[in-house]
Amino acid sequence: MIKVITVFGTRPEAIKMAPVVLELKKHRDQIQTIVAVTAQHRQMLDQVLELFHILPDYDLDIMSQGQTLYDITTKALMGLKDVFEKEKPDLVLVHGDTTTTFAGALAAYYQQIPVGHVEAGLRTGNIYSPFPEEMNRKLTCAIASIHFAPTATAKANLLRENQHPSNIYVTGNTVIDALMSTVDGDYNFADEGLQNVDFKNHRIILLTTHRRENIGEPMRHIYKALRRIIEEVPDTEIIFPVHRNPLVRKVVEEELAGVDRIHLIDPMEYEPFANLMSLSSLVLTDSGGIQEEAPSLGKPVLVLRNTTERPEAVEAGTVRLIGTDKNVVYKETKHLLTDPAAYAAMSNAVNPYGDGQASQRIVQAIIHAFTHTGERPDEFTVPVRE
Ligand code: UD1
Ligand code: UDP
Repeated sequence: MIKVITVFGTRPEAIKMAPVVLELKKHRDQIQTIVAVTAQHRQMLDQVLELFHILPDYDLDIMSQGQTLYDITTKALMGLKDVFEKEKPDLVLVHGDTTTTFAGALAAYYQQIPVGHVEAGLRTGNIYSPFPEEMNRKLTCAIASIHFAPTATAKANLLRENQHPSNIYVTGNTVIDALMSTVDGDYNFADEGLQNVDFKNHRIILLTTHRRENIGEPMRHIYKALRRIIEEVPDTEIIFPVHRNPLVRKVVEEELAGVDRIHLIDPMEYEPFANLMSLSSLVLTDSGGIQEEAPSLGKPVLVLRNTTERPEAVEAGTVRLIGTDKNVVYKETKHLLTDPAAYAAMSNAVNPYGDGQASQRIVQAIIHAFTHTGERPDEFTVPVRE
């Protein structure tokens, strides 16, 4: 038996690890699956655990209002130390680039437990953008012995950093596994905050912002630009599920509260959110996961950041990196809303991030690496466009 502890703590990690946990549990004859959550996020994590019916074996419940990076790192490190000492797993699986990810990898390393890194190899090349995620994933990469790269680009980044090719598996991103199990053409929205939205006659702009480096003035710029858009383009509405970070909420409240056709709502559960994405005309976001999901639904994405570690959909033409300058955000958004040809050019459905089989490849790779039985999984490759 291979004893695997999966560690996560925030909403996006939970969404992307849920399909992996479910797949691990299908292999009870070979794998013992244990789930440890730090709960770096509380409500936003619980929403996902409930949707995927995952009951953690360990819940460190570390979140505090306005927590610092030091709070998260130390609490997660100490909490996971105890879990790993007790369970003595063969493998710790972490995901992506949050502070839970790094602390989980470090806690495992201190006990010389091998680490598998899901969504490995994403890079911007700038350790302050996104902050602290670029450093979290580099440090995690340095510790990990198995790297699950979602794409060929991510694999190339790992090879450039001298990771051995035999330790890298190109799997696709598990977010597409989660998305495919969630989006449903006939979905009915029960969310009260959406009852006043005129889905029939208006174009929906879906907005999310939460990146640490955007908090403050960059967010203020973004919101001012979008206020102007709403004033000038009457057949549009903005739906903005506002992240629970109090620093984000403060700026949102100051700039957007009470504006007609701008709906400020609480973070949505994943299922309605994914379905809302598929109904929207346009997505504006600084999120990582949404940059991967929206292109597969054929939704143009304007990324409110100066860098991206996800170049694939930019290259495919569905995502554009526009930064946070007020005038640029206004100009780029207005252009897409008023020029049908520009809109059509960006609204092709592309799937550079996955085919829904990533979790299967990851579990097959774990069995292959630990038991030396079974085949090495085939690499995920991007389907050729017609
Ligand atoms: C974290 C991750 C970021 C990831 C993001 C996804 C780090 C350093 N940052 O950033 O990489 O993109 O999650 O959303 O790991 N809060 C609640 N309830 C919740 C969640 C958050 O109240 O369910 C509030 C708390 O006041 C918390 C604050 O939001 O202190 C910030 O949460 P934190 O995890 O520190 O940072 P995020 O910006 O969410
Ligand atoms: N998401 C959600 N509800 C929301 C907003 C986002 O379920 O109200 C999902 C979204 O579909 C994606 C993930 O949360 O899968 C992205 O999380 P976030 O933007 O917080 O983090 P990032 O991906 O930037 O790390």
